[in-house]
Formats: sequence, C-alpha cells, structure tokens
Amino acid sequence: MGAQIRLDINHMMNDYLGGHGIDKAEIESMIPALKKAHASVEAGRGKGMQGWMDLPCNQTAIVAQILESASQIRDEFEYFVVLGIGGSALGPAAVQQALNHLHYNELPKELRNAPKLYIEDNIDPERMSALMDVIDIKKTCFNVITKSGGTAETMSQYLIVLDALKQAVGSDYKKHIVVTTSETKGFLINIAKEEEYQTFFIPDGVGGRFSELCPVGLLAAAVCGIDIQALLDGAHDMDVRCKSDDVTKNPALMDAALMYIAMNKGMNISVMMPYADSLRLISDWYAQLWAESLGKNVTLDGKPCNVGQTPVKALGVTDQHSQLQLYSEGPYDKVITFLKVEDFRAKTAIPHGCDDVPSIAFLGGKSHNQLIEAERAGTEYALYKSQRMNQTITLPTVNADTIGQLLYFFELCTAYTGALLNIDTFNQPGVEESKLAAYAVMGYDSEIHTAKREEMKSRPERKAEYLF
Ligand code: PA5
Repeated sequence: MGAQIRLDINHMMNDYLGGHGIDKAEIESMIPALKKAHASVEAGRGKGMQGWMDLPCNQTAIVAQILESASQIRDEFEYFVVLGIGGSALGPAAVQQALNHLHYNELPKELRNAPKLYIEDNIDPERMSALMDVIDIKKTCFNVITKSGGTAETMSQYLIVLDALKQAVGSDYKKHIVVTTSETKGFLINIAKEEEYQTFFIPDGVGGRFSELCPVGLLAAAVCGIDIQALLDGAHDMDVRCKSDDVTKNPALMDAALMYIAMNKGMNISVMMPYADSLRLISDWYAQLWAESLGKNVTLDGKPCNVGQTPVKALGVTDQHSQLQLYSEGPYDKVITFLKVEDFRAKTAIPHGCDDVPSIAFLGGKSHNQLIEAERAGTEYALYKSQRMNQTITLPTVNADTIGQLLYFFELCTAYTGALLNIDTFNQPGVEESKLAAYAVMGYDSEIHTAKREEMKSRPERKAEYLF
C-alpha cells in the first residue's frame, strides 16, 4: 500500500468558525442516517448502477488486454485521440493531466515514449479541423468512447473521422479505430462488430461519470504510460479505508455527512480548489460527478425535491487573484475543498536577486514549492478568519496510487451523499432530456423525437419586448 491521502475537516467545524460551521453534535445526530446510507451503498455494491464499486478488483483480465493493446498502439501510432464527452472524456483528461508531464504533447518523442494524446469532447465546428491541422491521420489511433453508443457529439465525430480515415488510408481504416462502449446496448457495439474494430466494454453497471477506472479511462492512460494497476490499487485502498459504517473511521462517509449538513445550512456551492496544476482537471471531473449525481428533482419515494450543490472549479494560486475575494466576503453559500500536494515531483528554486528591494529579495533562496503551500495556507487562514467552511485533502505526492485513492474517495462520497439525500445518484434524466431535444431539433424522425418536436412547439413564442 502506498502513502495515504488525508482529509482535514477542522475548518468545517464550529470550533473554528463560530456559528458558520458545523457542530460535532450535528454529525452525531446523523449517525443512524449515516449508517443507513452506508448500508444502502454497500447493499448496492456491484449491483444495478454500482458496478463501479467492483472495478478496483475485478479487472485482472481486462487490464492485461488493455496493456497489450496499449503497447501495440504505442508501437504503431504517433497520435491517440479520444472521441467522447462527459464521463467519457473528463476522467481520461483528469488522469492524464495529473500523472503525465504538464506539457506532455510538446515533449520530444523520445522523452514522451508514447503517442501524443488529444481528448476531443466538444463539437465546436472549428475543433475537428483544428485537430486535423495538428495530427497526421495516417499515424493516428482514434478511441471512440460512448456507453450509449448514440451520443450525437461522439457519433458525429466518429463519422467525420471514419470518412477522413477512408480517404487517407483506404481499407486500413479499421486498424485506426478502437471502440469503448456497452457490450449489450446501443448501436455502436453492432457497428464495431460489423467493422471488426478492436473493442473494450463499459460494464452495464458503470455510468459515464463513474467510468474512469474501467476501459474508458484505463486505455488512454495505459497508452500514455500511466501505471493503471497502481490507479486501481489506490482505489482499492480507499475502498478498504471506507468499509466501516462508523463515520469517525470512514473519511468518505464523514465528508458526505459534512457536505449534507452544509447543504442544509445553505452552502449551495462546492468549490474544488487544487493547489497544483496537475490536479486542475480533477476539478472538472469532480464537477460532473457531483453535479450530475446529486442535482435531482425527485426523491426515491417519488416526492418532489430540488437538491444538489453547484460545483465550482478553481485553481490555486491562480484563482486567489480572481475568485477568492468572493469566497472570503461574499455570501455564506460555499464549501471550499483544497487539494494540497505535500511533495511535488519537481523543485523550483527561486534564485537570489533584486537585493535592493527587501520584499522581493526575501524570496531568493526559497522555492515555488514553499511559496505555493504558503499561499494555500494563507488562503486557508483567510477563509478561517472570515468564517467560511473549508477542508483540505492532502496528497503526499501525485502518483497513480494517490490519484486512484482520490477518485474513489469522491465516488464513494458522492454515493453516500446521494443516499443521504434519498435520490437516485446514478441517473441523469436532465441530460437525457437535452439529448432527446437536440435530436428533435435536428429533425430526426423516430416516434419519440417527433413527439418531442411537437412538445417543443408548445413553448410560448419569444416576445419582441425581451429581444435587444
Ligand atoms: O455520466 C453520464 O452518464 C453522462 O454524462 C455521460 O457520460 C455522457 O452523457 C456521455 O454519454 P455516452 O457515454 O453514452 O456517450
């Protein structure tokens, strides 16, 4: 087992925040509800949409296949392009940013020792042509990732790439496409079979935002030289740490309790603020996980509700110079989660200089490692002083093991919080509604899309007085 990540919740508590924090008694009063939430998450382990809980331990054969495929891709291609959106893109991007060089694609080939990686989620019309400008399609492997196999963004990208590949390499196009999709649902699996594409499966019980630790994320990571077994081992370690239904012994359950109490006190915003560029995209991944899982309008008993907490992405130190003023003095509606790195993978010493300006000369002989942590500690203090709920997750260092721990910690915390809110954590009807409406707008003629088009016509006309 590697070094463990740690959660510090001191500055969530009223011991530090006067009336703006949480009382220990409030957590204690939740113990029966917390035990129930823990039991319900455990009861669902591996069932329904909780297949993600098995991923750290049930993929030995898949990991071997992924490693073999990744090694071939590394030998044969210079570019690896992920086509996917939402859960099919945010995890691969977050893990790549965390675990590879911050300028990975710009590194010389011999230092990278693996293909350049591009993750193409959006369908901005300029984006695909921009991609084509920087890759050599004859040397590119495309990983088409979509669980439903029908997401318009990804499948339209697939059609564009297929056409371009056929023009560039003729019948060899099949060797340039790897598909990651559901084995049992959607159209892409049938296309993949007909075309004999190499295929990896997204287990039925693993939803998009919980899919980073299955082939969705593992293939791109392995292609780029990331130790995927260590990622899974880290996740497994976190799973073991969170086995207990005693909130004082289960960090993810404790955090779920705090976030739940905080939400009930009007903390409608969850700010994720890593103090490390490598963790910047963890905030994007977390934003989808937290927002899509917890933003719901009906309880499991069918009662109307409007719950959830809006995730906000921030980066330390950068956003101290942008958002911190609001966090310190604006409304009491936020919980700020710092991600702190103890031991960075590089040390940047600050040389001596500007001797006649004492306040700048003072920095000489110190390091960016010291400065970034001092800035984080300073921000933590400022938030404490203005009585704002904040907590810190410390990564001893950023490696595959600690990232596996971190991802699984947030997944478990999300599942526990959803259970406390008594909602379906694993569906996304609001997302499905927009997918359906978009196809209806595009003019697709299936029964449900035609019905949706009709329904959309019942929206009142836009009023001229509101148009400027
Ligand atoms: O979490 C989810 O399920 C969604 O955000 C999906 O990841 C996203 O909509 C993409 O879906 P698909 O993988 O089916 O293309």
